[in-house]
Amino acid sequence: MVKAAILGYGTVGSGVYEVLKKNRDIIADKLGDEIQVKYVLDLREFEGDPVQEVLVHDVDTIIDDTEVAIVCETMGGEHPAYEFTKRALESGKSVCTSNKELVEKHGPELIQIAKEHRCSYLFEASVGGGIPIIRPLRTSLAQEEILSITGILNGTTNYILTKMETEGLAFETVLARAQEKGYAEKNPDADILGFDACRKIAILTSLAYGKKVDFEDITTEGITSIAAVDFAYAKKMGATIKLFAKSVKKDDKYYAIVAPFIVKPENPLYAVKGVFNAILVNCNMGGETMYYGKGAGKLATASAVVADVLDCARHTGRHLDIRWEDQKLEIASIDGAIRKFFVRVPAACEAQIRKVFGEVEMFQDVADGECGFVTEEMTEAQYRDKAAEFDSILSMIRVD
Ligand code: HSE
Repeated sequence: MVKAAILGYGTVGSGVYEVLKKNRDIIADKLGDEIQVKYVLDLREFEGDPVQEVLVHDVDTIIDDTEVAIVCETMGGEHPAYEFTKRALESGKSVCTSNKELVEKHGPELIQIAKEHRCSYLFEASVGGGIPIIRPLRTSLAQEEILSITGILNGTTNYILTKMETEGLAFETVLARAQEKGYAEKNPDADILGFDACRKIAILTSLAYGKKVDFEDITTEGITSIAAVDFAYAKKMGATIKLFAKSVKKDDKYYAIVAPFIVKPENPLYAVKGVFNAILVNCNMGGETMYYGKGAGKLATASAVVADVLDCARHTGRHLDIRWEDQKLEIASIDGAIRKFFVRVPAACEAQIRKVFGEVEMFQDVADGECGFVTEEMTEAQYRDKAAEFDSILSMIRVD
């Protein structure tokens, strides 16, 4: 019997409890051993919930119990999750978490502590909810050079963009409806400004290259300036608009960006709609692989935590290594990144467009009083210099 504890009985923590309970026989069958939740830590009481029988309010009860081999940290936030995780690892207990903030800020340090104490720090659920992506990067793709990772890593923004596209609505309208239905947070900034996706691509890029990516180094733009008319242009191009979190290795330089992109149907990420997430990984030997599923939600995220629990249970007394050094991975300036740009300007500018940008693909009859065009490939710096020659750029969206 493997004894586990859950820190935090919120959405994910109660999901972990549920997955371990409902799938107890399946798990026991596959693992060849049972997993028993010995403790659940939470400050609250849950009268009438069977969890009450194993509920504790003091983390010391868990840390001091040598029978507990695995701790699921589903508290979220940096403190006290950081202190509790550190203490659990130092006492030789493996920790499985969904806590993206903690992983992004302290991943290398916590992995190192786990290594020193012959246990593991696993965090499959911290990126992409229920989508297996950390494990593929750590194991299935360990032999590969990762050339690029492109993710739709935020369900809220993908839901909003999908609704804008299918219903022709303004950003603000869809956001308000999403908030009403509980699909978007009351304070949606972390999602709509791209910060959530940024932290996630920082983690994935760190794992792909084994060094620490600071999320502050990643150029991040959200979806707040995407207008209904942008989708009208995208439709004309046979394309859509997605918030991509992207990192690319090119000529020994590493680029990373979170921003809306015009996406054509040839890209498999084009088909990812609504709250779903997906990650497309391009490798130098095996080519492209894609990982798709629910990027958030109680049972999807909890299932990923439990997958890590099983991994730890199979490797009791051993450290499951994740190469992620505390050394910084330099992210190159976005100025050197090459791509096409979709730009909207007042219609009167057409002659100037051709003078400044040369060969472009024009779209003139989509909206009154303006036109749109797609440039040839150029660097971000070149685009910026050319755009500076215009008094008015109505909007710019990068083209994938
Ligand atoms: N708010 C996130 C999303 C889920 O909308 O995808 C948590 O990372």
